[in-house]
Amino acid sequence: MANQVTLIDHPLIHHKLTLMRRAETSTATFRTLIKEVSLLLAYEVTRDLPLKYEQIKTPIAFMNAPVLAPEKKLVIVSIQRAGQGLLDGMLELMPSARVGHIGLYRDPKTLIPIEYYFKVPYDVEQRDVLVVDPMLATGNTAVAAVERLKATNPLSIKFICLLAAPEGIEHFTEIHPDVPIYTTAIDEHLDEHGYIVPGLGDVGDRLFGTK
Ligand code: URA
Repeated sequence: MANQVTLIDHPLIHHKLTLMRRAETSTATFRTLIKEVSLLLAYEVTRDLPLKYEQIKTPIAFMNAPVLAPEKKLVIVSIQRAGQGLLDGMLELMPSARVGHIGLYRDPKTLIPIEYYFKVPYDVEQRDVLVVDPMLATGNTAVAAVERLKATNPLSIKFICLLAAPEGIEHFTEIHPDVPIYTTAIDEHLDEHGYIVPGLGDVGDRLFGTK
């Protein structure tokens, strides 16, 4: 495994991911689960956020208490449409983070990503970017999204997904060796349509009930 891949290993995540993988899981349950997992993911990917100390008064005494350093500004960039599922949970934990959207879809024949929307905060140059997309499959979409984001010159970029395929990790790390990947599982391989096996199917369809 490449150095830059962090496999988030937590019993709650494993359990919830298994529920999400089950073909019979309903859209409503899938939506709830992806939100819950994204809260746990957010907890892990923000481990390195810097703290500063402020004097506060508890009901008992004064103390120097840690708070997030305000200069560390985040933007969560969701790759549409499946990224929305991870975005919602992350925002719950980090309500003041800014949000960007990248609209990319995979051409079903070539699997090449086509961009139809791009909007990030005007001050992205002063921000650390968390890119969210549940599936790192071929890696084509993730590679294109990160390429596009790099052109806006943010302070740093992390890529966060639920599931990754070995092919996607290899492709992504070859093109963007400087961008760490966070995932909750690495599955076996891709099928001929670019779906992760065993995977959990098409996240967009399962999230929005479109199939
Ligand atoms: N996108 C999905 O939604 N699922 C996959 O398995 C691969 C890409």
